[in-house]
Amino acid sequence: MPLYQTLRWQGDAASGTLMLIDQTLLPGTYSEIGCETSEQLWEAIRSLRVRGAPAIGVAAAYGVVTGTQSLRQSPLTEFRVAVVEVCRYLATSRPTAVNLFWALDRMREFCASCRQADSSQQLHDLLLEEAARIDQEDKQMCLAIGRHGNELLRSGMSVLTHCNAGGLATAGDGTALAPIFAAANSGKSIHVFADETRPLLQGARLTAWELQQRGIPVTLICDNMAGQVMKEGRVDMVITGADRIAANGDAANKIGTYSVAVLARHHGIPFCIAAPSSTFDLSLESGDAIPIEQRNSSEITDGFGRSTAPSGVNVYNPAFDVTPVELISALITERGVIHKPTREQIRLHLS
Ligand code: MRU
Repeated sequence: MPLYQTLRWQGDAASGTLMLIDQTLLPGTYSEIGCETSEQLWEAIRSLRVRGAPAIGVAAAYGVVTGTQSLRQSPLTEFRVAVVEVCRYLATSRPTAVNLFWALDRMREFCASCRQADSSQQLHDLLLEEAARIDQEDKQMCLAIGRHGNELLRSGMSVLTHCNAGGLATAGDGTALAPIFAAANSGKSIHVFADETRPLLQGARLTAWELQQRGIPVTLICDNMAGQVMKEGRVDMVITGADRIAANGDAANKIGTYSVAVLARHHGIPFCIAAPSSTFDLSLESGDAIPIEQRNSSEITDGFGRSTAPSGVNVYNPAFDVTPVELISALITERGVIHKPTREQIRLHLS
């Protein structure tokens, strides 16, 4: 298990707080923040203090509890309306990771269909239990992804990953990194190349940190070095996470993932995506319909306290890209591995 908890609920429903590691400060500073209002959580998601598709979903589920704490004494009908409003508000924090909407839908539906509660106070307590279930299920999904992904790994392999899809991006062991942790636990020796992941450096700041913490050999490279290390024959497999996977298997993930997939295909290296079923959006026919978050230009021109571009330059900063399914060798989920995924296989796998 991870040596740290990306997020955790502290206390009871009435007065408890969602605690998050502030990931914007890593690796230099390890510190937790408490989110006591839904506005604070919204800001934490938007500014990537908590990030990674599954972690955003779990945080939002707890955020519904936080955002309705002051209404425990209100009439039930009023409380139910407030839950819907908090869900609607938190859903505006980031657009691409479907886990956010998945978790909020689940909280809203639980609230709407719950007949066990006679008061807002009781319903609020039950909402905390539902959020904790989402949290626990995410931990279990990570372990299962790890077990299935481990079957694809042999001792001595070198795996390249992009962005951070480790424990920091989930409530548990991660998605793309879970097979690596499982492999290490089963005695295999695996080396990881971590792309630094411009512009916000999740690979350098988070993946390299996490792997070091867990004693997994890791080599950090700039994003534009991936082709060279593949050409040198030093990469056996690529594994990344995903933020949203459409019904046909097209997968959105951190900007730069598509380039890595093209490079992997050129060099004959398997390109795998590890993600829980909560990351699939079967309502979307293909990746063309996945909304891509556009972020502030300052992330590119003024990242980490230093100006690195002329003032006033035009900037384009999409936070994600979509890898077409034909470049994906396998999808690893908590239910197993889909080799050479197709629309039909995905449908059967998730049904
Ligand atoms: O912008 P971020 O840091 O939230 O982007 C995260 C990613 O792209 C991850 O690879 C993805 O969410 C999968 S996390 C298990």
